[in-house]
Amino acid sequence: MRIISIANQKGGVGKTTTTVNLVGALAKCGQKVIVIDLDPQAHLTTCFGLDPRDLETTAYEVLCKGTKLSDALLDIGDNIKLLSSGMDLAAVEQELSTVIGRETVLHDALKAYEGAVDFIFIDCPPSLGMLTLNAFSASNEIFIPLQAHFLSLQGLSQLLEMLLLVNKRINPNLRVSGLMFCMFDARTSLSAEILNDITAFFEEQRDQSTPWQHIKLFDTKIRRNIKLAEAPSYGLCIFDYALESNGAKDYLSLANEVIAMDQADAMEITFASLQSVGQSDTKVNEVTVDEVQGDTSLTNKTVENKTVAPIEIVSSVDNLVSTTKNVISTSQNDQ
Ligand SMILES: Nc1ncnc2c1ncn2[C@@H]1O[C@H](COP(=O)(O)OP(=O)(O)OP(=O)(O)O)[C@@H](O)[C@H]1O
Ligand SMILES: [Mg+2]
Repeated sequence: MRIISIANQKGGVGKTTTTVNLVGALAKCGQKVIVIDLDPQAHLTTCFGLDPRDLETTAYEVLCKGTKLSDALLDIGDNIKLLSSGMDLAAVEQELSTVIGRETVLHDALKAYEGAVDFIFIDCPPSLGMLTLNAFSASNEIFIPLQAHFLSLQGLSQLLEMLLLVNKRINPNLRVSGLMFCMFDARTSLSAEILNDITAFFEEQRDQSTPWQHIKLFDTKIRRNIKLAEAPSYGLCIFDYALESNGAKDYLSLANEVIAMDQADAMEITFASLQSVGQSDTKVNEVTVDEVQGDTSLTNKTVENKTVAPIEIVSSVDNLVSTTKNVISTSQNDQ
């Protein structure tokens, strides 16, 4: 069983997008997956079409209240179980601060599922605090999504430093096994330069005993693709939302690399196999968004003959409006 943290403390690099679409590809070809949203922003939970405000039992209860993992996991379609996040997850840092063994609570909770699934993926928050530490303690692998920007390199060295410490003190089995470039633009010379620098950095260190000694720099580069940004609005992974898109092609290719990492004779996932498992009748009406003209307006889509409305944006705007009204009226009452 592979337990993989998807981590980078830099925000907005593609951690959640990579988690939801890798999990989507693997689950659709029959791999059993548990996926954990360890980010208080709960973006991964939203990507699966759930509203975090409706959920009673989340990762918070497992980490801070001793709730059993089996009581908190939600069935999300074929082969996927989700440990969801909620806003209260932000309290974990403080609530665990006095607990002995606080960095291994998640590790202990996952023990009950040892060998029960093929993969556990953990979507980490953009920070190196207690939640990320728990993810690293529980994992045997880390994937790092990276954008080809100058500042990404600085963040990477901080992340590797922390990993060295975790590896030495808490989890000697932890390995950085993969790095993927996200939102990659092959046309810019900066992208090419950063790609070369990163490759040279890791190649130079191949003979040193570090947690990233055997890191795989994935051949697949995830291109910037508007469909990947739209799919969460419908609570769908890219394979249910826009199977023909470059986003689907890239994440399918990445999923094949991930499977091939530990199996020389790994099966290959194809578009045909993605369509034939579980979601065989799924048809998404394409073309509400014109990629070429960059029109990003979102409208209803038809999936499996049901009309699906973009969930997140509407409810978030309502929420924003009502919260703002409350804040304004409270501050007026205070005066
Ligand atoms: N390849 C891509 N093409 C276009 N948009 C993308 C792509 N990958 C991610 N995005 C968009 O970029 C934004 C950030 O992506 P994502 O949420 O996956 O990053 P993250 O690292 O999880 O962020 P955070 O650190 O806040 O958790 C999102 O709006 C997402 O839809
Ligand atoms: Mg995220």
